Amino acid sequence: MPRIAYVNGRYRPHADAAVHIEDRGYQLADGVYEVCEIAGGRLVDERLHLARLDRSLRELRIPWPMPASALGVVMREVVRRNRVAEGLVYVQVTRGVAPREHAFPLRPPAPALVVTAKSIPFTQREALARKGVSVVTVPETRWARVDIKTVGLLPNVLAKQYAHEQGAHEAWFVDSDGFVTEGASTNAWIVTQDGALVTRPADDGILRGVTRTVLIAVASRTGVRLEERPFSVAEALAAKEAFLTSATTAATPIVKVDGHGIGTGAPGPVALGLRAAVRAAAEIAPEWSTVIALPAFVQPDNFAPQKSA
Ligand code: PDD
Repeated sequence: MPRIAYVNGRYRPHADAAVHIEDRGYQLADGVYEVCEIAGGRLVDERLHLARLDRSLRELRIPWPMPASALGVVMREVVRRNRVAEGLVYVQVTRGVAPREHAFPLRPPAPALVVTAKSIPFTQREALARKGVSVVTVPETRWARVDIKTVGLLPNVLAKQYAHEQGAHEAWFVDSDGFVTEGASTNAWIVTQDGALVTRPADDGILRGVTRTVLIAVASRTGVRLEERPFSVAEALAAKEAFLTSATTAATPIVKVDGHGIGTGAPGPVALGLRAAVRAAAEIAPEWSTVIALPAFVQPDNFAPQKSA
């Protein structure tokens, strides 16, 4: 079955789907994206992903390419046409096509929208979680606005490539003070010897992961003590457990950091328990696109534009 992509108003065979050479996303990385999990053919945590997309667009002053509910229709149609039951849908919005200039075009172009979907068997991801993954650390080399989910991912690309060349699954960025920020495409967590769950505050050098938001809500219900603070590589090495989160990996245990075993060296009960709890707490979107409203547990300013200093 040929894959289908949505590109600027058309459903196209994936192999032929293309954007203009002067798309500002292509030339300047002037665009944002979202990755939303598909489970049972349905979007997972759609409202949180669209709320974050809204924030990213507003931070870069890119207009919505269409109303959120219409984007919901397109996302569902791409998932349906590709018969994705388990996997992800990718949404990318760029400022659009204009003669190359760094500053915003004087006559704003229509923003460009691309939506693709792909299958990733759940069993494959589950097997990885049961085994646990390894990470290696790399210096933080990204810009200061990693809170915006932009397509400008070159440091993340290089970090992930380095990890793979070291036989690791993920790279953790470490800031100049020795604290872990996050992974190349995941948020970073540890469980301390006395059982506290530690992750870096989302207003400080990381992307506010949707899975992170859901996990925090879940943890507060299960009574796990949460400490939102930076942690060092040394603290991670001494931790009982470590894990990473993202839309398609949920919580996945980390068993090695820079070649050192974490805890028992096997996936830990807290990470695996939270993995199950996050999956159970995920909001499965309705089959039909609806009006977008934020779920109750989202703090009002979670996805609001940053106030300028
Ligand atoms: N990555 N941090 C970074 C830098 C990320 O790129 C991602 C997601 C996350 C986790 O966010 P969420 O829980 O909303 O998926 C954290 C996606 C999956 C990607 O780039 O493919």
